[in-house]
Amino acid sequence: MANILITGANKGIGLQLTSQYASAGNKVFACCRSPESATELNELAKSNDVQIIKVSIGDAVSVAEMASQLKGVPIDILINNAGTGGPKSQSVSNMDFEGWADTFNINAMAPLRILQALKENLSLPDTSKVVTITSQMGAISLDMTVAYAYCASKAALNKVMKLAAIELAKENIQVCVIHPGWVQTDMGGPTADLTATDSAAGIINVVTQLNADNTGGFWKWNGETHAW
Ligand SMILES: NC(=O)c1ccc[n+]([C@@H]2O[C@H](COP(=O)([O-])OP(=O)(O)OC[C@H]3O[C@@H](n4cnc5c(N)ncnc54)[C@H](OP(=O)(O)O)[C@@H]3O)[C@@H](O)[C@H]2O)c1
Repeated sequence: MANILITGANKGIGLQLTSQYASAGNKVFACCRSPESATELNELAKSNDVQIIKVSIGDAVSVAEMASQLKGVPIDILINNAGTGGPKSQSVSNMDFEGWADTFNINAMAPLRILQALKENLSLPDTSKVVTITSQMGAISLDMTVAYAYCASKAALNKVMKLAAIELAKENIQVCVIHPGWVQTDMGGPTADLTATDSAAGIINVVTQLNADNTGGFWKWNGETHAW
């Protein structure tokens, strides 16, 4: 059984990942910014090995506090799942630049901030995995002229994790990014293709398949590789 840390664990894909990993007998450190209002997560934690941790991933001080709480605890799998869709206005003609910077902080910088803060924890097991939920919208190969801030933040995230995969391979830390599909969550909306349950189950399969030979990949939830 593994120790797994998941961000954005209060709802959507993150809540489903937490539920499925915990039901399989793993210990889950379930991170969110407002545990007091995370009703479903608190319910889940009553009957599973789920420890809820309050952290604001966009804030370096808060992330450092989270890391100090976890000092000496081995982490086998880190799943950077939390993400924002970004501001209302994000096009050539109408861009909310401040909102873009915030989107960049949450989607592109926070995953590395957390990886850096938990690097010692990830180095304790013989091998460990760092998985970040990206989006197909961050693929340079996909021509979809929407949500500039969101797309750019996920494209930057992909590059960051590709570099981290190369650098951390020698330390037996395997890294990948996964597109979760178009998923019925607050972000994806009710008409999306996939339930959060099915997306999370697919993501867990992909995480299982991540290894030293395929580290640095861009995957879809269903196990197919995604074009960069
Ligand atoms: N749903 C889709 O179709 C889809 C497609 C491609 C990629 N994704 C990616 O999948 C991941 C999970 O999204 P989801 O679909 O499960 O969406 P969701 O239900 O809206 O959940 C988003 C999660 O991210 C957290 N979050 C958002 N803004 C944050 C901020 N500024 N600081 C800290 N945490 C923040 C939310 O916390 P709060 O509840 O506190 O806001 C929540 O836990 C994201 O990275 C998203 O980009 C989703």
